[in-house]
Amino acid sequence: MKLNIVTIPGDGIGPEIVREACKVLDRVGRVYGHTMEYTEILMGGCSIDRYGVPLTDEALAAAKAADAVLLGAVGGDVGNSRWYDVAPNLRPEAGLLAIRKGLNLFANIRPAYLYKELAGACPLKKEIIGSGFDMVIMRELTGGLYFGERYTKEIDGLMTAVDTLTYNENEIRRIAVKAFDIAMKRRKSVISVDKANVLDSSRLWRKVVEEVAADYPEVSLKHMLVDNCAMQLVMNPGQFDVVLTENMFGDILSDEASMITGSIGMLSSASLNEGKFGMYEPSHGSAPDIAGLGVANPIATILSAAMMLRYSFDLDREADAIEKAVQQVLTEGYRTGDIYSEGCQKVGTVKMGDLIVERIS
Ligand code: IPM
Ligand code: MG
Repeated sequence: MKLNIVTIPGDGIGPEIVREACKVLDRVGRVYGHTMEYTEILMGGCSIDRYGVPLTDEALAAAKAADAVLLGAVGGDVGNSRWYDVAPNLRPEAGLLAIRKGLNLFANIRPAYLYKELAGACPLKKEIIGSGFDMVIMRELTGGLYFGERYTKEIDGLMTAVDTLTYNENEIRRIAVKAFDIAMKRRKSVISVDKANVLDSSRLWRKVVEEVAADYPEVSLKHMLVDNCAMQLVMNPGQFDVVLTENMFGDILSDEASMITGSIGMLSSASLNEGKFGMYEPSHGSAPDIAGLGVANPIATILSAAMMLRYSFDLDREADAIEKAVQQVLTEGYRTGDIYSEGCQKVGTVKMGDLIVERIS
């Protein structure tokens, strides 16, 4: 099979980790007989430096023409980079939002799974971790506060900033359907997270999610308020299977969920449209503080490449091979600095990539 992949190395550690993921994909190609065709595009700070905008129309068109997109990370040190003090639509993050919207990637899947080898890096107490956890956060990605009307202006003599949170029923329905479909392949439980005690958008969210649930009698549905969910994640993470939520709540809760897995350097993600097209990226950011040092953990990006094979190309066997190889290097005790604990062997970005490549055969 020929896989037409657009890569977006981006900023910070992005280029280093995407390089390792491509190395792993190439190995999969050789072992299983597929051809990877890569087209690299610029997005984020590097695109601003070159073209003055975080995402050019040409780059977006190239991404549209691909079968799938593999992304590293974009952006610099927030508040302290040359890309911060500019108009919001010219910041690196605006490129990310534009590509999500432009490719209609409304469904963001963020798995949070505790590797038993990394349980020592989990900040929770043993009795809370119990037998571990394995959840998927389904975050709505192209609506809500991120995409509502926004402005800052003087009203009645006071500088006033406005952001608007809008959802229509179709936007809610399509992400709910994806969440229930995924739940059917997992432990058949959805916890839908909202703030229905305050927000209108949350009340509509609840109503539509219940309508969708009626089509999935095998899946259990529970509603949870977002503040309670933030608490439950650190009190009883094992209760979650599929967490369904809107854009901003999902942004925050997925960072929290990633932290309890021990390291944000382990978490992959997929952003999908209505069909098979997707953009795959680690859940972490561009980590400018360690960029270029060769110490970044490439595993989240490598696991994102595995998700790409699974969701965009239906190559389950190949995705399994990558996930197994990652599991194997962890079992053998290899760690990058972020997941290092005593008695393990510390390795850098390239070495970690090599070790994973060698275990795919
Ligand atoms: C994420 C990031 C982005 C988001 C930022 C960089 C705009 O935090 O993917 O979670 O908030 O969606
Ligand atoms: Mg985030």
